[in-house]
Amino acid sequence: MIRANGVYLRYPDGTEALKDINLHIKPGEIVYITGPSGSGKTSLLKLLLGMEFATLGSLEVMGMPMVKGKTASINKLRRKIGPVFQEFKLIDGRTAFENVMMGMRFLGMPPRKMKDEAKNALIKVGLEEKMASKVENLSWGQQQRVAIARAIARKPALILADEPTGNLDQENAMNILKILHNVKDINTTVLITTHATHLLDGIEDANFLHVDNGSIRVEGKGW
Ligand SMILES: Nc1ncnc2c1ncn2[C@@H]1O[C@H](COP(=O)(O)OP(=O)(O)OP(=O)(O)O)[C@@H](O)[C@H]1O
Ligand SMILES: [Mg+2]
Repeated sequence: MIRANGVYLRYPDGTEALKDINLHIKPGEIVYITGPSGSGKTSLLKLLLGMEFATLGSLEVMGMPMVKGKTASINKLRRKIGPVFQEFKLIDGRTAFENVMMGMRFLGMPPRKMKDEAKNALIKVGLEEKMASKVENLSWGQQQRVAIARAIARKPALILADEPTGNLDQENAMNILKILHNVKDINTTVLITTHATHLLDGIEDANFLHVDNGSIRVEGKGW
């Protein structure tokens, strides 16, 4: 699913955000990426999404080499990825349902199926009753769940979630992690970055990567 060999990422201003990253993540795995602020977690997800490119080394996502200039292939790859990034905001003035539908726009799904999938995803995240609510009227935690519904409705092979529990209380954060865990049932690979390591204590069926100053230290089981 994901293979990285000696990947470095240096931003134009000279910041070495990632150094010698080596990874092999298999389909269906759940991987938590922890590490201090500025350690490189978001940068790693951006490489996987083709929003940034390795300065050195090689990276493959679902068999595709992530190299600059292959815009068409990367766009195609992105159809198989469900991103949950803070910067991909929900669209105000539209309902939760409409936001989830918009996430499926370019997948070529028949409209009827799109509607069913959108509805199912919102049920999965516990927002059945808020489908017709405008997103700006939802609580922060509910908005996070709409963002997750938008990602899972696409039935992606890979979910990349950047701090999906950010700014949530413990109960809501646990709830989000549970939802993300459950998508494993459809053999989706899930990568989740988080500061909230205290939430990860009881988690059994996941792998853990710790990023420190751009380098990865592998922790936990599975590797
Ligand atoms: N576009 C950019 N240009 C230059 N430097 C950047 C850019 N984006 C990130 N960085 C730097 O790269 C390093 C890693 O940043 P990154 O956002 O990946 O960290 P992070 O682990 O996600 O942090 P946080 O937990 O605060 O979200 C930091 O030193 C950051 O300042
Ligand atoms: Mg980050």
